[in-house]
Amino acid sequence: MATERTLSIIKPDAVAKNAIGEIIARFEKAGLKVVAAKMVHLSEEKAGGFYAEHKERPFFKDLVGFMTSGPVVVQVLEGEGAIAKNRDLMGATNPKEAAPGTIRADFAETIDANAVHGSDSPESAEREISYFFGNDEICPR
Ligand code: TYD
Ligand code: MG
Repeated sequence: MATERTLSIIKPDAVAKNAIGEIIARFEKAGLKVVAAKMVHLSEEKAGGFYAEHKERPFFKDLVGFMTSGPVVVQVLEGEGAIAKNRDLMGATNPKEAAPGTIRADFAETIDANAVHGSDSPESAEREISYFFGNDEICPR
């Protein structure tokens, strides 16, 4: 499998729980490397643009409200099959359906505050990484 990069966000609920380190440890233990990282408090415009694909969905307004409710940690993860590996570590969108031992099963209770984001395809990874990071902010290692 090829080396890939994916965008990961530790969402406001997980930051508020002081779980940043535990979540990043899961990525590292699974062989993913952090090659870029920053903490940001998203504006409505930035969060809405990030989730533009969901603009017409009924949960969009609440999603933007949640994503702007506190700081997030945004990172680029690199590794073999990083996109699918991160999605496996995250678990299902609804924490109630997430497999035991996944990040969402362990750190989230509800679908609207579900601890982490991860790119779902090579196309979205490319868009999402460049939405948050310039090439000079990514450190190959
Ligand atoms: P989605 O891209 O479907 O899930 P994922 O984060 O697993 O890629 O949805 C984006 C976010 O929107 C999701 O993490 C939480 C929120 N959301 C809701 O609040 N309610 C919903 O019914 C869905 C599908 C998503
Ligand atoms: Mg998604």
